[in-house]
Amino acid sequence: MKPSVLVARAVFPEVVERLRQHFEVEDNPADEVFDKPELIRRLQGKAGAFTTGSVVIDAEVLDANPQLKVVANMAVGYNNFDVPACTARGVLCTNTPDVLTETTADFGFALMMAAARRISESEHYLRRGEWHKWFYDQFTGSDIHGATLGVLGMGRIGQAIARRGALGFGMRVIYHNRSCLAPDIESQCRATYVDKERLLRESDHLVIVMPYSPAAHHAIGAPELALMKPTATLTNIARGGIVDDAALARALADKRIAAAGLDVYEGEPAVHPDLLKVPNVVLTPHIASATVATRRAMADLAADNLIAALGFGPNAGKPPTPLNPEVLRP
Ligand code: GLV
Repeated sequence: MKPSVLVARAVFPEVVERLRQHFEVEDNPADEVFDKPELIRRLQGKAGAFTTGSVVIDAEVLDANPQLKVVANMAVGYNNFDVPACTARGVLCTNTPDVLTETTADFGFALMMAAARRISESEHYLRRGEWHKWFYDQFTGSDIHGATLGVLGMGRIGQAIARRGALGFGMRVIYHNRSCLAPDIESQCRATYVDKERLLRESDHLVIVMPYSPAAHHAIGAPELALMKPTATLTNIARGGIVDDAALARALADKRIAAAGLDVYEGEPAVHPDLLKVPNVVLTPHIASATVATRRAMADLAADNLIAALGFGPNAGKPPTPLNPEVLRP
């Protein structure tokens, strides 16, 4: 008998079909967002789950489903998983690194540029029919080329953004991270390590790409925003909760900083109401990895992980991107 898996959110039908070659699949083409009791119910009898960032796998869900063996996230971030709780119960967790790096970096750069050059704000003005004449300081923003790019979180995506800034736009790149990069990677990215305070003080354009963890909660709040240049922009493509959205909305309203670009929010899909009121912020609905090719590659990699983890396919027993590979060891 085929093992059963849950595909907890809607996904490409072709990917569901691939999973059906190996598993009894309960999918969710209507894309209902299950609350915890419903998720627990749907997971009954399932050996694996294909998840996205909105599907929380914690100790309560695991304890109610002791037959679960693998949870495969279609995302590089995995703060929706309690990985230690999974490891303690022998449940494998996987994510989708690498396949989205360049696409996400493109988007981070686009959001930063849109904030710096006031693209959304000026488009809204035009659409409101308010454009009656050209004038010399109309929607003047700040330059990207030659400016200082600050990267907070220098993993794969941070490095890809740094390369775009240094090699494509002649930016000076500084970064802050848990640890310094190896010298060869620093020189590929033309990036210099600085402490967090210097990063905040010196960046013309600060891009946040660090993973979320409880320790990262409100890593950027009012005190940090107060250190930034009044002409600076802040872009968050990492996770909601790293930035204190209420403090950011105040800083934008008071022109403490010039502009922001946000793709992620505390408590998303809800957006802090004060952010909706300030014009100098570009707001997008968590779409940094959203190109057709990349979303498909992410879905395929999550499926590869699920198939291999449950002992099928060419990589049987060796899922490509495990987060807690220690549970695979005999
Ligand atoms: C998206 O936010 C991801 O983590 O892949």
